[in-house]
Amino acid sequence: MKTLGEFIVDKQQDFPHATGELTALLSAIKLGAKIIHRDINKAGLVDILGTSGVSNVQGEVQMKLDLYANEKLKAALKARGEVAGIASEEEDEIVIFEGDRAENAKYVVLMDPLDGSSNIDVNVSVGTIFSIYHRITPIGQPVTEADFLQPGHRQVAAGYVVYGSSTMLVYTTGCGVHAFTYDPSLGVFCLSHEKVMFPAEGKMYSINEGNYIKFPMGVKKYIKYCQEQDEATGRPYTTRYIGSLVADFHRNLLKGGIYIYPSTASHPNGKLRLLYECNPIAFLAEQAGGKASNGRDRILDIIPSELHQRAPFFVGTESMVEKAESFMREF
Ligand code: AHG
Ligand code: MN
Ligand code: MN
Ligand code: MN
Repeated sequence: MKTLGEFIVDKQQDFPHATGELTALLSAIKLGAKIIHRDINKAGLVDILGTSGVSNVQGEVQMKLDLYANEKLKAALKARGEVAGIASEEEDEIVIFEGDRAENAKYVVLMDPLDGSSNIDVNVSVGTIFSIYHRITPIGQPVTEADFLQPGHRQVAAGYVVYGSSTMLVYTTGCGVHAFTYDPSLGVFCLSHEKVMFPAEGKMYSINEGNYIKFPMGVKKYIKYCQEQDEATGRPYTTRYIGSLVADFHRNLLKGGIYIYPSTASHPNGKLRLLYECNPIAFLAEQAGGKASNGRDRILDIIPSELHQRAPFFVGTESMVEKAESFMREF
């Protein structure tokens, strides 16, 4: 059995110039994940279910656990001193960590502390998503928004934690995707899936079909394609939609499938946030042999202009994403 900590230290040895800062940063995320795991698991017993009564900058009602997860993760990252600042779905602005240590830190972290908020109160899987960049402003001064508005292809590492039937941490530093299952009795994440790759073909599609009427024509046609009978391609495909991006992506990664959150008539850029959701998941998808686009262009090449910017999102098994893109081009 290899733990996440041992695995990261082993990997660091492949890079003789590595300083251990990224290792320490990942270890802070690991700690944050353990704390969130612990509290999600007893959420029904303590008063942390339900809404907080306030909204975030994107107009979404914040759940108590959204805020709790945000605070815990922020504190874990701040305490380690390897992070100069963070941006979060639940923070209006970037959060600049103060002090010499933070100003000399070379990393910034962007996060969706709790993904799938609407599933919290009904005991369905939720997640945490993180994305790590080198800062681009000079070391020794506070970070600025420019450090956070980098295209996704510059990510140094990204990953998610899925709090499901078991809790798993899945991450990449650009050398494949590795998954670790949490053993709560030992308090450690154990390597359970090394070098995860999408199966070559997929048979699942995940989309909120309740919005069908508002979808672009290409997406409507692709959904119909998924539902048609065809022995050669194994259609009709199966639809699976949890409503937590992390859980939907995780299932599709292991089983083969596509997740789509397209633009809609009312939301021309879709719903998902480029910096906290699309970029980290796109990095993982590509590292696992999959594909991620906005229906036309590669997600990781989009130059962000705003912190809370949204993007239509097509991600999963490469051949399925390409097929969906061909419908987007045609209609
Ligand atoms: P969050 O809970 O972090 O705000 O994210 C919710 C996202 C994503 O996880 C999920 O796939 C999607 O919203 C579901 O949206 P719909 O309810 O519109 O299908
Ligand atoms: Mn939210
Ligand atoms: Mn989310
Ligand atoms: Mn969230």
